[in-house]
Amino acid sequence: MTKTLRYLKPYSGTVIAGLVLKLVGSVAELFLPVLLGDIIDKVADNPAYTYDQKVKYSLIMGGLMLLCAAAALLGNIFANRLTVKSSGRMTHDIRYDLFSKTSYLSSRKTDKFGVPSLISRLTSDSYYVNQMVARTLRLGVRAPILILGGLCLAFSQDVMLALVLLACLPVVGVIIFIVTKKSIPVYMGVQQKQDAMVRRMQENVTGVRVIKALSRGEYETERFDELTRDLAATEFRANRIMSLSNPLATLVLNLGLVALIIVGAAAGDTPGTVLEFLQFFVIILNAMIALSKIFVVISRGSASAARIEEVLSEDVGENIVPCRESADGAIEFRNVSFSYNGVGNNVKNVTFSLGKGQTLGIIGSTGSGKSTLINLLMRFYDADEGEIFVDGRNVKSYPAAELRRKFGAVFQNDFLMAASVKDNVDYGRGLSKEAIDRAVDCAQAREFVDGLEGGLSYNLAQKANNLSGGQKQRILIARALAGDPPILILDDSSSALDYATDAAFRKALAAEYPSATKVIVAQRISSIKNADLILVMEDGEVIGAGRHEELLNACGEYRLICSAQMGV
Ligand SMILES: Nc1ncnc2c1ncn2[C@@H]1O[C@H](COP(=O)(O)OP(=O)(O)OP(=O)(O)O)[C@@H](O)[C@H]1O
Ligand SMILES: [Mg+2]
Repeated sequence: MTKTLRYLKPYSGTVIAGLVLKLVGSVAELFLPVLLGDIIDKVADNPAYTYDQKVKYSLIMGGLMLLCAAAALLGNIFANRLTVKSSGRMTHDIRYDLFSKTSYLSSRKTDKFGVPSLISRLTSDSYYVNQMVARTLRLGVRAPILILGGLCLAFSQDVMLALVLLACLPVVGVIIFIVTKKSIPVYMGVQQKQDAMVRRMQENVTGVRVIKALSRGEYETERFDELTRDLAATEFRANRIMSLSNPLATLVLNLGLVALIIVGAAAGDTPGTVLEFLQFFVIILNAMIALSKIFVVISRGSASAARIEEVLSEDVGENIVPCRESADGAIEFRNVSFSYNGVGNNVKNVTFSLGKGQTLGIIGSTGSGKSTLINLLMRFYDADEGEIFVDGRNVKSYPAAELRRKFGAVFQNDFLMAASVKDNVDYGRGLSKEAIDRAVDCAQAREFVDGLEGGLSYNLAQKANNLSGGQKQRILIARALAGDPPILILDDSSSALDYATDAAFRKALAAEYPSATKVIVAQRISSIKNADLILVMEDGEVIGAGRHEELLNACGEYRLICSAQMGV
């Protein structure tokens, strides 16, 4: 948790100012019963004072009480404001770092955490940390001051009555301790169930079309209902346990009050003193209950802090390995093998080489390892065996940014932002208008973009849901081309284009970006037929490599695909 708490350091001034104000407010609050007891004893039942003296004394002491009440009120209000400020800023900083860490995590580490878990760390976990810090700053100082200060004042006023008070506190303490201890695991369960509910909600909202298409609305609603019922039951259990502490503590309070009155009467204490002690009792008891609530918030927050720190402490430093070996051409794979989870190889002993400006076509059944080759080429994952070279250098020897700058890529199921078409193509790179226009033209997107209201300024909805599948793909292709990359990767990115548009795109690509090395993953033979090298993948292995005509002769699998698609 220390790492998380360090985020408060930049705001230590605000935190300290808040704590000082809390201190002032709490001390002022403690003096209220003392002043009240004093007025009652001196004014109500004291024959030594004349009527005028009583009025004067009441006014002075009453004024002092007002001052203390105002100090307590203002101190608490301003302290709470400062607390919200510092804890809010701290949470902002944590979320900022967590988000940037998440964006730099290696794909393997992202797989390890899982996307839903990273999302809940960014949202609910950081919220629980915020609650922990805010509540602790608000009550963590106030409650102990009220308890200790209350006890000190009590002893300074009347030792006998203070001892009665002191005797009751351990009983209240034990009750609160037991109740809190029982409730903490239940609250942790609530937290986990909330996470599960948010995860299910995210899944359902993202997959709403699938749910509708398969008419699974009722099924999903029922599954969701199960989760919320479970959550409600756990919350009920947690609250039921916690709700025990107030009545039990109040019972002890009432018994204590009776004892206080009896001891006070026996010792001949004045009504003012007894009243004063009754107030101390209430203040201290409330402070103890507040403390118990802090324990719950702290145990929940510290579990969240640990989950956040787990991500924050991940090393995202670049693993750059100096490699002396070099290669010719734009891309070379040498005996590359790779497994995502260390069980079976998803890519097995792949070797090929491609010259600058050439086109590589990759075809094969689903799950055969085509996208994995792209992941390895762009070093989203490191190969377990073998070497991969880009522009003659081992990919491991490049700083990540330098390597990735060489690529323009459209990934399988790529995404578009809720922004204008132009902003999506530019993607914050500050590209020239000419570069954007050229890319939009080449991607065969001009005609439909001009037909949109506002053309390039047309705003896309989230996930570009206001475009058709083929239109989305053309914007994605334009985005990849606009940076004029030395290597262009297109992973299944023209599958939604009709044959004529696909052919026009390939023609424009060859004419407009002749120097770019192209890697095209496709299911259609027509998309890769003219490639300089075609790899036929099957179960992670390259089972055929060569040009179209060579493969027609040499690779049975390729021939099968061709005959299925083109009747060749
Ligand atoms: N992140 C991952 N973690 C674990 N296994 C994975 C991961 N990504 C892919 N795989 C597995 O690796 C194998 C190859 O997947 P890959 O995505 O490369 O297939 P593909 O040839 O691109 O298929 P498609 O044509 O369907 O896109 C598959 O068996 C897949 O289940
Ligand atoms: Mg794929």
